[in-house]
Amino acid sequence: MTSLWLDRGQSFSSDPFEAGRSYDTVVAGAGLTGLVTALLLARSGQRVLVLEARFPGAVTTGNTTAKVSLLQGTILSGLARQYAQKQVGAYVEANREGQSWLLRYLDEHHVPYQRRNAYTYATTAQGTERLLEELGAATTAGLDVEYVRDARLPFPIQGALLLTAQAQINPMDVLDALLRDVRARGGSVVGGARLRNVSGSGPLAVHTDQGTVTANNVVLATGTPVLDRGLYFTKLKPLRSYAAALELPAGVTAPPGMYLSAEEPTHSLRDYEVDGRTLLLVGGHGHQVGRTESERSHLSGLLDWATGHFPGAAATHTWSAQDYQATNLMPFFGKLPRGRGHIFFGTGYNKWGMTNAVAAALGISADILGGSLRWANTIHRRVTSPGGAMTAVAVNAGVAARLATDWGKLAVGKPVVGPAETGVSAGPTAGGPVPADDGGRVYRDGARPAAVSTVDGTTCRLSAVCTHLGGIVHWNDSEMTWDCPLHGSRFSPDGKLLEGPATKDLPRLEQG
Ligand SMILES: Cc1cc2nc3c(=O)[nH]c(=O)nc-3n(C[C@H](O)[C@H](O)[C@H](O)COP(=O)(O)OP(=O)(O)OC[C@H]3O[C@@H](n4cnc5c(N)ncnc54)[C@H](O)[C@@H]3O)c2cc1C
Ligand code: FES
Repeated sequence: MTSLWLDRGQSFSSDPFEAGRSYDTVVAGAGLTGLVTALLLARSGQRVLVLEARFPGAVTTGNTTAKVSLLQGTILSGLARQYAQKQVGAYVEANREGQSWLLRYLDEHHVPYQRRNAYTYATTAQGTERLLEELGAATTAGLDVEYVRDARLPFPIQGALLLTAQAQINPMDVLDALLRDVRARGGSVVGGARLRNVSGSGPLAVHTDQGTVTANNVVLATGTPVLDRGLYFTKLKPLRSYAAALELPAGVTAPPGMYLSAEEPTHSLRDYEVDGRTLLLVGGHGHQVGRTESERSHLSGLLDWATGHFPGAAATHTWSAQDYQATNLMPFFGKLPRGRGHIFFGTGYNKWGMTNAVAAALGISADILGGSLRWANTIHRRVTSPGGAMTAVAVNAGVAARLATDWGKLAVGKPVVGPAETGVSAGPTAGGPVPADDGGRVYRDGARPAAVSTVDGTTCRLSAVCTHLGGIVHWNDSEMTWDCPLHGSRFSPDGKLLEGPATKDLPRLEQG
């Protein structure tokens, strides 16, 4: 499913990869984090190479809803439950810096964006309580948020928080501008080049599937970090959610602000003007990657909600994407442990990366160039609260339980994915039945967990064991992909790695 932003004629043209060359910094990942970091370093005169496994914007940045807002649902009250005011204030300052840098950059480069009021709204008494808690946290952190009864939505609400003059962007317009700028300053951007490993120390050897280059510094701007040093995958929850662009019937206008509900499932709204018509964008109905019976039902839940609240609306695009939530809710950026001070990363933006990714890029480039940012230092020095530590323990207990359950089911011959979901008859034995078109199932092929799918008439048999740390993959019936329920790696039906902490494809299996 292609997002509204990625549905465009333009295609990316890669710079050549020059094996053996030396760089000051190699940045892995051409999303918002990677390209802003690359630009800041190239501006300072560094020789920069950006390695992108797929193409710029391919993963989360090209599939976002792209609100550039300091009002972020109920994030601040969540942080205030875990941290002292100083840390919550540093988070707001980081996001304010990220937002100001980005909007100033867009002004200077004539990239269009729209100013919009941002609202977090509640439709229940419980949601209203959350709003009031958020109002307290936001006001204490110095944000000029007010409580209003009317958010100019066409359905009843109990109340809303309002922060005026926030912004919304087309994320691919932004990446295009950054990409041109990185190149204009001597940087190279190579697509289809996946970083596989980094070794050595001075300089670092950066191993990719196109060869090896050397660099003084490496930045992992890969969504979740792809090197396991620091074990960040144990401190992050991969969260997938759904989005759609809808054409409204004649005479119906999209609400004038950017919105997010305080209640679950979340509902996010904004507008987008294209070719003289205004589309309504909706998002939400998320879940942890690989941990739902049917992804398709989440998308249809979102579309039912949208057409229930905007009768006659017709979807032009539907898509889904994932972002990573730090177990203690505070994004991670800076030096990667055991990277000898030369490997950097940014992650854990919790679906607020339009500001947090830019803040992370500012922090990382300051570290590399010898600068110091007060808010970054405060965030670096945070101590995980007992609550955050317990959440990390619970997340990892969930991961361990899932691993044991899936392998246990296979050991006794139960299918990991039930027949009702896949349209195949039960039978965990060797070979296994071939799923109907657009179906996938996991079964035991002798001693091997196997994943078989049929998409567009092509059947593929793969190892069902995630190449990251051995999770058993799950069939995503909305995207037609294999998704790992442990740390969120995802693979195409023919086993190609799409995203997540893994660095290798799922191997194909010969028929057993
Ligand atoms: C549905 C949804 C809606 C959202 N809406 C908003 C919003 O309204 N406002 C907001 O502020 N935030 C929002 N976010 C969050 C925001 O989109 C993300 O936080 C942000 O785009 C992350 O950017 P990134 O550069 O870190 O990651 P990405 O854009 O994912 O970039 C990482 C890049 O690294 C590449 N890569 C991965 N591994 C390797 C490797 N080994 N070698 C080389 N390259 C590699 C990938 O191919 C990818 O292109 C949303 C997120 C989702 C999922
Ligand atoms: S993503 Fe870690 S085991 Fe699959």
